[in-house]
Amino acid sequence: MKYDLAIIHIDRLLPFAGDPHRGLRGKEMDLSPEIKDGAIAIKDGKVSFVGQTEAFLQLENVEIEQTINARGKSVIPGFIDAHTHLPFYGWRDGEVARGRGASYGDVIEGGGGIKLSVKEMENASDDEVLHFVSGLLNHVHNWGTTTVEMKSGYSLNVPGELRELRLIQELSRSCPVDIVSTCLAAHYVPEGYTSREWVEEIIHDLLPEVAQKNLASMVDIYIEPFTFDVSDARRLAEASRAFGLIPRAHTDQVNAIGGCKEAVKLGFSSVDHLNQISEEELEMLVKSNTAAVMLPGADFTMREKLLPPARKLIDLGALVVVSSNYNPGTSPIGAMPVIIGLACALYDWTPKEAIAAATMNAAVSLGIGTERGSIEVGKAADILILQDQWYEMMPYRIGENPISTIIKNGKVTKNQLTRDKNHELYNTGV
Ligand code: NIG
Repeated sequence: MKYDLAIIHIDRLLPFAGDPHRGLRGKEMDLSPEIKDGAIAIKDGKVSFVGQTEAFLQLENVEIEQTINARGKSVIPGFIDAHTHLPFYGWRDGEVARGRGASYGDVIEGGGGIKLSVKEMENASDDEVLHFVSGLLNHVHNWGTTTVEMKSGYSLNVPGELRELRLIQELSRSCPVDIVSTCLAAHYVPEGYTSREWVEEIIHDLLPEVAQKNLASMVDIYIEPFTFDVSDARRLAEASRAFGLIPRAHTDQVNAIGGCKEAVKLGFSSVDHLNQISEEELEMLVKSNTAAVMLPGADFTMREKLLPPARKLIDLGALVVVSSNYNPGTSPIGAMPVIIGLACALYDWTPKEAIAAATMNAAVSLGIGTERGSIEVGKAADILILQDQWYEMMPYRIGENPISTIIKNGKVTKNQLTRDKNHELYNTGV
């Protein structure tokens, strides 16, 4: 067999293999197995061997185009960031006022927050948005993100939302990460509309084109007293399903108005934020396949007093995901190792739990668990070689980029190993 690339002598290989529809739950997250002196072989962009180096080297008739010696390193799957607000245009650093007591709802109603980003998006040309967002995608890739969920939601009118989704499609052709796209037209209620009127317009004028042009695979809604209520969410979800689009929701971030309960009942793919959920909702989530998406970047930036029950969600066996929520207001942090560090600090998670939530479980929440999220034979070769043998360094040295080498769909897209002659990338076979 001829392989395009082999990584051998990996000190600690963590494949995070799991059921592609159920993900890793409860203790499976922290007990996810490690292979010592591991090897991975890649062919045609896919993983075709995972095991110990010795077993790999004993295979017969092996030819390898390129070999990486990963002695002294740990290796994990590429990060899947399952919740961002990319594309956005420009920052909103002036909103630090929130830290001094202004609520998120007050900031938006005062013309800031989502409303300000809507204005900035409207005033920017396509080229400006593409240039700005390409820079951000390159940045997050350099920090280990190999797949990213992106959504519309900073236009709040039909042509603008379509434009954002088209820009996402354009970015997916040119940027180094894979993209999963979501329509979040129901991010806020535009001026002059009731929430129900805007939902109806989304259903009649936007979703048909989104579905027909394959511009998104999911439809999101922000459930809060100052945006959309549970009946809006139900109506949008039913209509989305008729177009083959999967519903998901931002819910229970600021107020508890029953969003999580309804979303789980209706089988949404995920419920995101969850600071305010009740015991009853927590138990419903645990028994469901709806992912609980934790967003520690927002909890940190918003100085949240009430954190989501993230520790309990893992302990009780929910499908738990951690994502960046990269946006210019509540979470201006796109680097997943930093997000993982925040999750460990704020939620009392172990590094392994946080990585499982950012890889395998994130893939399951996006419906791509059979293709990505873990290092398993047949899956896309999205692989990170860390700077250190200790993947545990990631949340400890928060703010340091822990990624030495990135392999995306089987190709090396970042490589710092050559800096160290003991670990250099070489071409001579094994
Ligand atoms: O997930 N909650 C709603 N939306 C975002 C914030 C978007 C923004 O402030 O621009 C969030 O926190």
